[in-house]
Amino acid sequence: MIDVDAVRRSTPGCETRIHLNNAGASLMSQPVLDAVVDHLQLEARLGGYEAADAAAERLDAVYASAARLVNAQLPEIALQENATRAWQAVFYGLRLGPGDRIVTGQAEYTSNYMAYLQVAARTGATIHVVEDDEHGQIDVGRLASAIDERTKLISLTHVPTSGGLVNPAAAVGRVARDAGVPYLLDACQSVGQMPIDVEAIGCDFLSTTGRKFLRAPRGTGFLYVRADRLEAIEPPVVEVGSAAWTSRDGYTYKPGARRFETWEAAHALRLGLGRAIDDALALGLDAIWARVSMLADALRARLETLPGVTVQDLGAVRCGIVTFAVDGVAAGDVQRALAARRINADVSTAEDTRLDFEARGLGALVRASVHYFNTEAELDAACDVVATLGSVARGRECPGQTSAP
Ligand SMILES: Cc1ncc(COP(=O)(O)O)c(C=O)c1O
Repeated sequence: MIDVDAVRRSTPGCETRIHLNNAGASLMSQPVLDAVVDHLQLEARLGGYEAADAAAERLDAVYASAARLVNAQLPEIALQENATRAWQAVFYGLRLGPGDRIVTGQAEYTSNYMAYLQVAARTGATIHVVEDDEHGQIDVGRLASAIDERTKLISLTHVPTSGGLVNPAAAVGRVARDAGVPYLLDACQSVGQMPIDVEAIGCDFLSTTGRKFLRAPRGTGFLYVRADRLEAIEPPVVEVGSAAWTSRDGYTYKPGARRFETWEAAHALRLGLGRAIDDALALGLDAIWARVSMLADALRARLETLPGVTVQDLGAVRCGIVTFAVDGVAAGDVQRALAARRINADVSTAEDTRLDFEARGLGALVRASVHYFNTEAELDAACDVVATLGSVARGRECPGQTSAP
């Protein structure tokens, strides 16, 4: 069980705000902040290279922490500055050609899908989008039948940016394994809020960010590359961090996934990432997931009782991201009304996950995303604001009727 009072005491942001934007960027804890600031101080006092030497062991330990978090081996981890860079390192490292197929799902993240479009236009590869099943998650049966000898990649967003859906990543992994097709999992929104095990999932590559459910600083992320898939992709760029210039006419990639890194990096932020991962591991991902699921279900249940409010989350399993619409009130106005009460939430639009939003005919939605440090009292406060807005909007539609208190 998580000691909620203790985690809130060590989170400065909890003192002044209700943070329901954990899918955007969560709140750093004081120890994470200290890890970052202490190293910056060291850089200022010693010099950047000298500070890196002094912190060498702790910097190396960040890889071990990331590996432990997703049940990978140490050489399978590369640190990155965000999830997008991690994902791109794999996607743009594949050698796709005319007629090759990228198989993906309906809930694809905007940047991923634009990359498919770019590479398809450049190479003649094609994109196949597998339809959802009755739960709104990727239809694994249809996925299996969509795989053929031209399929060179299964690429899936585990948890979309704009909804509570958790795609059945491990079932997709079994299809990928059976077909021998490389499998890239965008786990940007899932790492840190639920247990993630690359062996159980069966993915070959996984990308994630630090600032969301891991509660690390912005500008951090990491990549997992399964050891026996390393040679199947070529780093899209080569530089002194990814390779050594070993002869006049040649270079040799670094062993392991570090060949996808660049030499220069924000060491202070990496130390913050390491601390955030260690804190998540110490709390336990099972305990975090239990509390996040409980809070998200509680928020959905409260919102569903409010007249004019529609919760839009899909999936047989639903996570800490809660999306909803309020009749007669634009999502941006709901966000602003919440912000006026110091409640952080966000707005999701078709720009984020176009295939899904267009298929469901959705306009902009409010996105409230919970983490384990949130409380049920905070959910009540957010729902009070939403209820008031909804009743004011209904009052406008039916003048003469008094709105609910
Ligand atoms: C599902 C998903 N994938 C990828 C990304 C990109 O992550 P980053 O901004 O760390 O590059 C996001 C960001 O919101 C996301 O929600």
